[in-house]
Amino acid sequence: MSQVPQLPADLGSDPKSAGSESDTAKDTNRRQFGANAANYATSETHAKGASLARLVELVEPQGHWQALDIATAAGHTAFAFAPMVEHVTATDLTPEMVELAGSRAREAGHDNVTTRLADAENLPFDNSHFDLVTCRIAPHHFADKRAFLSEVARVLNPGGTFALVDNVVPDNPEVALFCDDWEQRRDPSHISCLSLEEWARMCDEAGLTVAHVETAAKQMRFHAWANNMSVPDQARPQLLADLLDATPAVRAFLRPSGTSQEDAIFFLTEGLIVARR
Ligand SMILES: C[S@@+](CC[C@H](N)C(=O)[O-])C[C@H]1O[C@@H](n2cnc3c(N)ncnc32)[C@H](O)[C@@H]1O
Repeated sequence: MSQVPQLPADLGSDPKSAGSESDTAKDTNRRQFGANAANYATSETHAKGASLARLVELVEPQGHWQALDIATAAGHTAFAFAPMVEHVTATDLTPEMVELAGSRAREAGHDNVTTRLADAENLPFDNSHFDLVTCRIAPHHFADKRAFLSEVARVLNPGGTFALVDNVVPDNPEVALFCDDWEQRRDPSHISCLSLEEWARMCDEAGLTVAHVETAAKQMRFHAWANNMSVPDQARPQLLADLLDATPAVRAFLRPSGTSQEDAIFFLTEGLIVARR
């Protein structure tokens, strides 16, 4: 059996800032995703979500490009781009995810994919190193989203492309608060979802010029959503009840239907942004 990579010192909790919000979030994240890594290899919305093909279509990757995938998890986004670029560096904060992405790359014969532990908020790469940076369905786990975007801008070549996909919320505090609180009760490593407008503004502030934005609804099965993070059986009825009994504004956004854990579905909204440095 291959070994889980060890966390280098520069990615561990900094003793000087131990206990800070960001370090605590990272420890929680490693625990959550370390324990549930295998679920993300098969998760339908991650492995087959429509945003994968759409990203490739919008980005128009070139054969000579060096690409970086941030928060790669099981590697789905890295592998979607691998056949079209020269090299992909697939990175994640969680050692078990890096190990999983590496073994899946080898199994799939993606010999231009290498894996590396990396914190999105403090990337271990030189300035102007990549032609493409991708990050899909992960930034809602980052405590310092500005630091993440500033790192993306730093490691991109001038003219390089940034492609972001994340779950977004409407510009309505009631709905946004419900979504974050409900997600945190499923997955304590969830920090916050932004609106598409907030993402676009923050990209701009980081020196990334937004070239394209769009949203798409994705259907979620309650059962699979809870399984991905191994939610204990006793916590599931309340999570479902809170969804089905939510306020009209929340229900209009999440569009829940069904009544049992097995048949309940709802919709999340993915925001997609392509920007250039
Ligand atoms: C839902 S998964 C990402 C899915 C993946 N990008 C895809 O397209 O299938 C979220 C990932 O974010 C990673 N993550 C969370 N915080 C991170 C950080 N600060 N830096 C890098 N990765 C992080 C987690 O370890 C986890 O693997």
